Amino acid sequence: MTSHNHSYAALSRIASVDPPGGIATPFLAVDLDAMERNIRRMAEYFAGRRASVRPHLKHHKCTEIALLQLAAGASGMTCATSDEVAAAVGAGISDVLLANVVTDRARLASVAAAAAKAAVTIAVDSPEAAELASDAAVQHGVSLRVVVEVDIGMRRSGVTSADEAVALAKHLALLPGLVFWGVMAYEGHLVAIEDRAQRSAAVREAFAMIPELLADLDRAGFKVRMVTGGAASTFESAGNLPFMTDIQTGAYVLMDGAYSRLLPEFEPALAAISTVATSRPGRPLVIDVGAKRMSTDWGDPMLAGYQATRVATSEEHCRFLLSGTSRPQVGERVAVIPGHSCSTVSFHRSMFGFRGNRFERVLRVDARDQLAC
Ligand SMILES: Cc1ncc(COP(=O)(O)O)c(C=O)c1O
Repeated sequence: MTSHNHSYAALSRIASVDPPGGIATPFLAVDLDAMERNIRRMAEYFAGRRASVRPHLKHHKCTEIALLQLAAGASGMTCATSDEVAAAVGAGISDVLLANVVTDRARLASVAAAAAKAAVTIAVDSPEAAELASDAAVQHGVSLRVVVEVDIGMRRSGVTSADEAVALAKHLALLPGLVFWGVMAYEGHLVAIEDRAQRSAAVREAFAMIPELLADLDRAGFKVRMVTGGAASTFESAGNLPFMTDIQTGAYVLMDGAYSRLLPEFEPALAAISTVATSRPGRPLVIDVGAKRMSTDWGDPMLAGYQATRVATSEEHCRFLLSGTSRPQVGERVAVIPGHSCSTVSFHRSMFGFRGNRFERVLRVDARDQLAC
């Protein structure tokens, strides 16, 4: 038994409800009660703490859900792309952080246009990135807040020393249209450490360089308004660092196969509802959701309600080896918890919200692809 059994049961029941208006499988179903409990749980954890939740829109790419998170107490939203920034600001969200280094001119133009209507903070990690952002801000007659991204071990983006951070802060402070706002450091290389105590210790160690860096910025005359980082599985360890202001936690809302082992206090709330194509005893079960509708980049999908292990995913199919006694029949619908919700959601235009056994409403995935061809 896992602590998520009631969520798996709820998602399985949703699979057996007739989908709204002839929707074909595979489609994404959201257990609204579980999602709302997850949003509440995270908001309650941060109520009264120094740092605030700034949830990551990249997880669900749905501004309707973002507005629920803000209503529960989030201080603003974090975005991964200019599409998400445009959608968030279009939905009336007044404070967004673009927590990635963006250097494409068309995307920067879109971010600058959004900054005419909302407070927009962006991350930079080089003088060139800062200059490109400054050009876009000047062209749109806006001002962009800027956090200097620091690499604390993930080896993706970020300056690699306190000296480089201070030099970049000095450089960007001289550029028109940019306002130095603070520091971002993301511990993405640590979020999947299985043991919770080890994960927390590794997070504290990775961020250990930040106080000295903040002192250097202070000595150089910079006022640091934001120090941001964090993820779903590190919300406590990153969230309680005394210098943190904004925690960029994403996947706690809908959860997924990868995170359900790491974060048992949050409930799986998203399933890809699929139909059984082939169910032959002694052979893997074949269902009609494949890599074109459910991501395979991280984590293992789980078949709710069955003892099953995923053995393969191809374009249109997923195969599970069943080890229990029960086996779904051909034509039956099943609920699959994606291995990674964030990248699964971006394959879909909509998610279908259910409360108990009843379909309630469509949740539009409206923050994807606004500039894509
Ligand atoms: C910059 C940044 N912040 C935060 C997150 C945390 O997201 P999640 O909580 O979904 O792991 C990510 C995940 O990719 C990220 O890239």
